[in-house]
Amino acid sequence: MNDSSRQAKFLKDYAPPNYLIDAVALDVSLAPKAARVASTLTIRPNPEAAKTGQPLVLDGEALTLQRIALNGKEFAPGDYTLSPGSLTIEAPPAESFTLEVVTLCDPEANTELSGLYRSNGTYCTQCEPEGFRRITYFVDRPDVLAVCTVRIEGDRDTTPVLLSNGNPVASGDIPGNRHYAVWHDPFPKPSYLFALVGGDLASIHDTFTTAAGRKVALAIYVEPGKEDRCGWAMESLKRAMRWDEERFGLEYDLDVFNIVAVSDFNMGAMENKGLNIFNDKLVLARPDTASDADYASIESVIAHEYFHNWTGDRVTCRDWFQLCLKEGLTVFRDQEFTGDVRMGPVERIITARLLKTHQFPEDAGPLAHPVRPASYIEINNFYTSTVYEKGAEVCRMLQTLLGRDAFRKGLDLYFERHDGEAATVEDFVSAMADASGRDLTQFMRWYTQSGTPELACSLDYDPHRKTARLKVSQVVPPTPGQSSKEPMHIPLKVGLIGANGDELPLKIDGEELAEGLLEVTEREQVFEFQNVPAPPTPSLLRDFSAPVRLTTNLNPDQVEFLMMHDSDPFNRWQAAQTYANNLMTAAARSGLDTGPVTGTEAGRLAKALATTVRDETLGAAYRAEALKLPSESDVARELGHDVDTDAIHAARGALRAKIGDTIGDTLAEIYQAATPPGPFSPDPESAGLRALRNAALDLLTATETDAAIDRAMRHYREASNMTDAIIALSILSHLQSPVRDEALEDFYKRWQDEPLVLDKWFAVQARATRPDSVETVRGLLGHPKFSLKNPNRVRALIGSFAQANPSGFNRADGEGYRLLADQALAIDRFNPHVAARLLGAFESWHTLERRRQAHAKAALESLANQELSTDSYEIVSKTLAGT
Ligand code: BES
Ligand code: ZN
Repeated sequence: MNDSSRQAKFLKDYAPPNYLIDAVALDVSLAPKAARVASTLTIRPNPEAAKTGQPLVLDGEALTLQRIALNGKEFAPGDYTLSPGSLTIEAPPAESFTLEVVTLCDPEANTELSGLYRSNGTYCTQCEPEGFRRITYFVDRPDVLAVCTVRIEGDRDTTPVLLSNGNPVASGDIPGNRHYAVWHDPFPKPSYLFALVGGDLASIHDTFTTAAGRKVALAIYVEPGKEDRCGWAMESLKRAMRWDEERFGLEYDLDVFNIVAVSDFNMGAMENKGLNIFNDKLVLARPDTASDADYASIESVIAHEYFHNWTGDRVTCRDWFQLCLKEGLTVFRDQEFTGDVRMGPVERIITARLLKTHQFPEDAGPLAHPVRPASYIEINNFYTSTVYEKGAEVCRMLQTLLGRDAFRKGLDLYFERHDGEAATVEDFVSAMADASGRDLTQFMRWYTQSGTPELACSLDYDPHRKTARLKVSQVVPPTPGQSSKEPMHIPLKVGLIGANGDELPLKIDGEELAEGLLEVTEREQVFEFQNVPAPPTPSLLRDFSAPVRLTTNLNPDQVEFLMMHDSDPFNRWQAAQTYANNLMTAAARSGLDTGPVTGTEAGRLAKALATTVRDETLGAAYRAEALKLPSESDVARELGHDVDTDAIHAARGALRAKIGDTIGDTLAEIYQAATPPGPFSPDPESAGLRALRNAALDLLTATETDAAIDRAMRHYREASNMTDAIIALSILSHLQSPVRDEALEDFYKRWQDEPLVLDKWFAVQARATRPDSVETVRGLLGHPKFSLKNPNRVRALIGSFAQANPSGFNRADGEGYRLLADQALAIDRFNPHVAARLLGAFESWHTLERRRQAHAKAALESLANQELSTDSYEIVSKTLAGT
């Protein structure tokens, strides 16, 4: 490993590029082992560069240089220098010039899946963040924007489909059974948005007419035989296109929009201009192969990548420290889309749950970093929950503080100022400030300070003055590299609820508070509400208005009151979660004593849940969410230290059984009644009914009575869609019962030749919380259908085990840690990005009880002693150091 790649890069060191590349013409000739790329670059010195006359340094990796010429004149070997990561031309001309470079690369040998590679025979590319340098020599950084023309040449039989960015301009045959296609993208773009596909693919086609009346040809390309699984993705795309016009006034800008699905992909999907490339699991769906959860992911990821066309492609990032500028904002936009096409409050619950489960631990651990990091060693490690999910919350807070209209004006101004440019977080926030007239100086701390703010609220009522005083204090905890923090600008949405459940007016200094929005800006602050007739119950942080940890002085009776009466659906859900989490943490703290989760308080929780699920005004999807208890990792996070994952598992299991037992009749009724009518439809209402029914089944089976197990097995046998089948299989997978093996075997027989469905089979077993889950996973690593080379399969088995089976992964003998370390090391040799992501599972090791900590530390240290990629080195060293 060369040590220079392990050096941290700093935001403060940003300098504009010495050279700009205005135009690129690529001529790519596809071949399995030696693809030839001839590139013609129009280059000029950057007038904004600090110095003139600098050498031109082009990035390049794993390339074989064949020819290089400047202004048509062939270079002699001494005119340039080559290193493993770059090609340097010491003295380029001071005026615009043309550089021609011909290189070879090896798509078949590309196991990192970055650059040009082959997936099941299809040639495809992945260039974000630094993959373009594996295709040709280039100034591979996001602030170099070029207009690009691509000519692709390939075999007519094996690559009948040839695609790239922009619009198609020409195509034709070449003698020798080859053919070509030419694509032109008129919008200047950075190299990371380049894409190319060549393969024998089937496709479905549709059209979309923009608000301005432009007709856009839409297509989705997949492996032949899978065309019947593209309909939902196409519908989702059209919905997203319409929504972005209606909500943000943003229209599509090319004549075509193409999506390609491939089966080997490191991430979920990629927003290449005009040619989005997707992991096929986020495109393909048929009722028998995809669950409602899959349909929902497809809808939101299709939307996400499409929305990047403006937030990412038309306006891109100046440097990779600004990643949240495109990702946080685009996640916010896809969340708003999902909230509009599905049930808003349910979307908010799912988002908040995801944030708390993934981002809060990241922000509290050794890998904590600001939404805009100040430094990184390997940028691939910064596609994190903090950049994405917290980044989205930061955009949401801006919308909350400014109001929807001013937020929209701010976004309009941002596009007006920066279309066709590479921008910064400051550019974005300045547009918001200028459009709204608000001072956002303090708000900028959300981008620079890491750590989840802790907000403590207490309410006191004065019966004589009829006032309620809300005391709010905030602390931002220390994080690696940031020992002391400044107070944040926090939007805090509140309500006061009277004894009969009515919302009380919110009056401060004689003025009615709009939307119940308070702005917390100081370390300690008091808000006094006037004309409060009787002692109210406060509903705090409504709609999860800020990504903070909230503590309150509410007693259990008040929490119970909120879970029955809060008119804010998010907080009503949150109250039940808080109540349940309190019971489980109490039980887990007292070791294996399950008293707190089986006593009268647990009974009260069960009854409150029954009231909620019987309330048909609430919507099925919402009621389903209400029935889902906080996860084992939610309980671990609440505990914060000395975590014993077995005690948590026991506590949660006992509470589930108690609820299943206490409100068994209600749950059984729901189970009988909540069946969506007619043939399968993935629409939100039908999906909500299935979710509700399956959540009831899950709690009913927690009692583990014979009748309950029979019911679950029947559910599996009678399932007419993947949603029902997979939930039943997952419920059965935890049991020590012959029906478990029977169901797993049946599922395997039916689906062994369907990779995406078989992934579910691996994942279900990896997640099953049984004493021998480590051995089960080890066994499956040797299964003939398992492969370390396919990222989806790796994530299904190893990822699910490490991320979604806390008691298995954290088994007290340390075997889970050893399994992950061994496998990550093996993967690191050929695909560092996937390996490093898996190693993120160690991020909370410092919160474990001592014995587990020692095992985790030993596993991390054994990795640190190995030859690691830069990616894995950064994760391992920071995880070990940051405690
Ligand atoms: N730009 C990313 C894809 C990406 C990330 C490529 C990291 C290379 C490295 C894309 O827009 C994205 O964010 N994809 C997400 C899914 C999205 C819905 C959050 C992904 O791939 O996980
Ligand atoms: Zn994205």
